[in-house]
Amino acid sequence: MVSPTDAERLKRAAAAAAVEEVQDGMVVGLGTGSTAAHVVQLLAPRVAAGLDITAVATSRATDAAARAVGIRLVTPDALGAIDLCIDGVDEIDSRLRAIKGGGGAMLLEKIVATLARRNIAIADGSKRVERLGGRAVPIEILPAARGLVAAEIARLGGAADLRLRDGAPWVTDWGHHILDAQFPNITDATALARALSAIPGALGHGLFLTEIDALYVAGSDGVSRQERPIDE
Ligand code: A5P
Repeated sequence: MVSPTDAERLKRAAAAAAVEEVQDGMVVGLGTGSTAAHVVQLLAPRVAAGLDITAVATSRATDAAARAVGIRLVTPDALGAIDLCIDGVDEIDSRLRAIKGGGGAMLLEKIVATLARRNIAIADGSKRVERLGGRAVPIEILPAARGLVAAEIARLGGAADLRLRDGAPWVTDWGHHILDAQFPNITDATALARALSAIPGALGHGLFLTEIDALYVAGSDGVSRQERPIDE
């Protein structure tokens, strides 16, 4: 059993290994969540010491954290490419396919990941899974599409729960809602991702099947790196 303090230490160790890849002059995508928060904290002293980077935040929370430590930020709308993105995951399998969106930021996370030439996932060992689907797949929806998206999820064999906060629908940075879709048995993640992407009113989902290029995962024996095979 990993204690909360140990979990934070492992998240920070994975983040520290990934941050080593950040170099002067880069445009860097900053992820969202408790693991990615360490990236901002680890970059802060390097930026203060003169590291010249421009960053793109994947959420308002990350934007605020990065601004607070003096990291220069731009919005992704005008960018054609990002050099490197570092972000957490909720689950990741041996083929570097992941579920993200526990923090509700997967819509912008996927835009930034798609713009990035290299995407690094950072995690403690608890995020590794044999097969995706132990956790729900978050789907950002237009509120008016809730019934339609829930019905389509049911048709695909899943069950959708509206994400709540204090009894009211969770509202994303973009003013949308989230359905957390539990699929008992994801046998074909690619087909599922395609089907979810095709539902009108489903604006984005947390299946990241092709975006992640490398994983830094921290365990009791240190941090290991895994690269996606070139042909995948
Ligand atoms: C945010 O929307 C997510 O995709 C996070 O990257 C993911 O939930 C990992 O978060 P933690 O690092 O807090 O576990």
